[in-house]
Amino acid sequence: MTKQAVFPKEFLWGGATAANQLEGAHDEDGKGLTIADVSPGGKQRMKLLMTGESALTIDYDTYTYPNHVGIDFYHRYKEDIALFAEMGFKTFRMSISWARIFPNGDEIQPNEAGLKFYEEVIDELLKHGIEPTITMSHYETPLNLVKNYGGWKNRELIGLFERYARTILTRFHKKVKYWMTFNEINTGVFGSFFSVAMRNESAENNFQALHNQFVASSLATKIAHELDSELKIGCMSIYATMYAYDCNPKTVMTKDLQNRMFNYFCNDVQVRGEYPTYATKYFEQNGIQLHIAKGELELLKNHPVDYLSFSYYMSATVSTEEKEKTAGNFFGGAKNPFLEASEWGWEIDPVGLRIALNDLYQRYEVPLYISENGLGAIDKVEKDGTINDDYRIAYLEKHLVEMSKAINEDGVDLFAYTPWGCIDLVSASTGEMSKRYGFIYGDLDDLGEGTMARTKKKSFTWYQNVIKNNGLV
Ligand code: BG6
Repeated sequence: MTKQAVFPKEFLWGGATAANQLEGAHDEDGKGLTIADVSPGGKQRMKLLMTGESALTIDYDTYTYPNHVGIDFYHRYKEDIALFAEMGFKTFRMSISWARIFPNGDEIQPNEAGLKFYEEVIDELLKHGIEPTITMSHYETPLNLVKNYGGWKNRELIGLFERYARTILTRFHKKVKYWMTFNEINTGVFGSFFSVAMRNESAENNFQALHNQFVASSLATKIAHELDSELKIGCMSIYATMYAYDCNPKTVMTKDLQNRMFNYFCNDVQVRGEYPTYATKYFEQNGIQLHIAKGELELLKNHPVDYLSFSYYMSATVSTEEKEKTAGNFFGGAKNPFLEASEWGWEIDPVGLRIALNDLYQRYEVPLYISENGLGAIDKVEKDGTINDDYRIAYLEKHLVEMSKAINEDGVDLFAYTPWGCIDLVSASTGEMSKRYGFIYGDLDDLGEGTMARTKKKSFTWYQNVIKNNGLV
């Protein structure tokens, strides 16, 4: 029996990507290197980066770099956008790579070729009636800002980002209404290299880096609203619904403590515009002293975001005892006996998404945008060329049903859904091509071999119908 899921009339259906994972052309037309360009492909990617085993340079003798070719969206965007339009996309979430605009991140004048490329992409989307949603920073800090500035702990990055944000907002504000500032900003709580562009720093430096990003985000919001008060600027964090493994109050308390630093802290600052009391206490208890310049707290307060966007892939289970761990979740949490997991160990939890939507809406009461969700899986191309990704359809259907319940039964204001990697692209955590999320297959393997030809998967028609019917009928 088909499941039912009903969505509001103007619901923004679409798909999500990031420049560094699909564009390729990593050094074309004046683009500078970003942190993604020196991140090796393979399951060891994060370890190599965080332990410093891989130097922050390109080393083709030792590693592969699938991002360097991506799926060549840089040259094939017209064909890809036509396919998005065929599915009926209302919006397309993409990022602008900072280093296409300011190759080293610290130039005074922008690179016109970079601006021109994004202008053409935006115009192509608009031509097809697709509204762009632009992420300003999606794990693509210019490499120079890591090597010569020390990453986001350096307060100089605030001003450099402000210049970048002003440049792209000024150029595109008449064409782009929806913006997001920093992708999955809360991964900075754990000092993720992609997020704060630093590795193995102290907790104090991680939180300083986050503070600097909060300020940069508020400055971008201020600039956007000065240009046009109708522009909508969102924050973006990863949300993992957290469960206590058992009903021991101590386990629940442990879960709550983790939950607030991971799921709430960044959203609290960016939506409410102030540091929550628990964070101030946490800083005191852990000897963390932030450098907060005069006027910055007022800036945060006066320029919060307009909406909250988040990625949702999995939940996380917290235990105070030794339990079997799940391979995939961010927290190295306990394996949840009630859930199945993807081939990469990410636990699949559609009801957890309804919980997430309720939790975030009850806490903030601002419109919500699910900017990422989906199943990373190995797809098989059959002899007749078809790709029958029923597992992906099943995953997405279950999530749509829970989203619909959150909207219709719980009253959550959810206005957009952009499943991740609507066209296959390079994985962020492992740099693999074989971890695919798309409705559109890109013929390319982990070593960069393949024709790059695009093929519609079975889920392509399925999603086309979802959009046409505004849900599942
Ligand atoms: C999110 C990121 O963490 O998850 C994306 O914003 C990423 O950049 C996505 O690609 C899926 O993760 P992965 O590691 O499977 O690519």
